[in-house]
Amino acid sequence: MALALSLGRRGHGRTWPNPAVGCLIVKDGRIVGRGWTAAGGRPHAEPQALERAGAAARGATAYVSLEPCAHHGKTPPCAGALIAAGIARVVAPLQDDDPRVSGRGFAMLRAAGVAVTTGVLADQAERDLAGFFLRIRAGRPRVTLKLASSFDGRIATATGESQWITGPEARRLVHAMRARHDAVMVGAGTARADDPALTVRGLGITPQPVRIVVSRRLDLPLTGQLARTAGETPVWICHGADADPGLLSAWSDLGARLLPCALQAGRIDPAALLQALGQAGLTSVFCEGGGALAASLLGADLVDEVIGFTAGVMIGAEGQPALGAMGLARLADAPRFRLIEARAIGADILHRWQAQG
Ligand SMILES: NC(=O)c1ccc[n+]([C@@H]2O[C@H](COP(=O)([O-])OP(=O)(O)OC[C@H]3O[C@@H](n4cnc5c(N)ncnc54)[C@H](OP(=O)(O)O)[C@@H]3O)[C@@H](O)[C@H]2O)c1
Repeated sequence: MALALSLGRRGHGRTWPNPAVGCLIVKDGRIVGRGWTAAGGRPHAEPQALERAGAAARGATAYVSLEPCAHHGKTPPCAGALIAAGIARVVAPLQDDDPRVSGRGFAMLRAAGVAVTTGVLADQAERDLAGFFLRIRAGRPRVTLKLASSFDGRIATATGESQWITGPEARRLVHAMRARHDAVMVGAGTARADDPALTVRGLGITPQPVRIVVSRRLDLPLTGQLARTAGETPVWICHGADADPGLLSAWSDLGARLLPCALQAGRIDPAALLQALGQAGLTSVFCEGGGALAASLLGADLVDEVIGFTAGVMIGAEGQPALGAMGLARLADAPRFRLIEARAIGADILHRWQAQG
């Protein structure tokens, strides 16, 4: 099952809105087939593993990292494919919360005489598929917030210089992290100040994650990197209803997808923003700041994991803080996270924190 889960993780960032599932087929102690959800979400893991196993699937055990699907979507149900191939036993950690499945896959297998074992490595599967489950349960993608800052918590100098606070090893790891998410997101301030490409580079990754900019009025450079490449690699702009129609059509002509979102206190409402992204099918978003957007998401309790890269450089109080104003008066009201990992990356420190509760 651990191997099936690791096969599933290969699809992270590439299978949305479908879950990234792994499948392993074992016969007489030998692996006869392996598969994982393909980019775009199809084909599913099970038919690929069955195809590799061929006739050896008859009487074999299938380890699948999520309940096999039971519905006719764009492909026939995987539970049916496992039955037709003569699989004798299915081991899976969890039931699929998708209302089209939710126990029906297991029931279909059992009704056909296939032995079903569930609960194996369920905690790990729940973590691996957290974004997929969150979208089903709460309608929004899982949010990872990345902050690369100086030792004293600054993300740029007073003049806005931020490249580079951390070293090449940390920056390379950020590219790998981008690749494991469905989308990379920044606030309009970062898009204006840094003209970022927000792509995964140096890892030979295709397809690229979606690139999202949050901007109420689309006051964004029409000749910047995002604008120039919107036709090749997806750019989504989350904007308010009062955005200038001329700018909306200019970005649309460039190939960007426009997602209107409700406002709150003059800015895009963070809850509405994430609901819109969930509605569009995203299960995980890697937010790279800047400080204002990060503070807004944290203030609304919408950050599931924070990844910090801290460099041994001191910028001082006049530098730009990692987080914008959060309007907090009491420490008890401050969002608090639990440390899950800390290690050195090149000359910097990586620390990962998970939301409590
Ligand atoms: N070191 C690092 O890792 C790092 C990473 C990112 C950024 N930075 C630096 O941070 C600076 C930019 O940060 P920033 O705080 O000024 O800008 P930001 O957070 O990137 O963007 C803020 C802008 O986003 C739009 N926005 C829409 N809805 C929002 C909401 N709910 N909450 C917050 N913003 C919303 C607003 O612009 P509209 O009026 O267009 O709606 C707002 O002015 C740059 O200097 C950049 O270099 C550093």
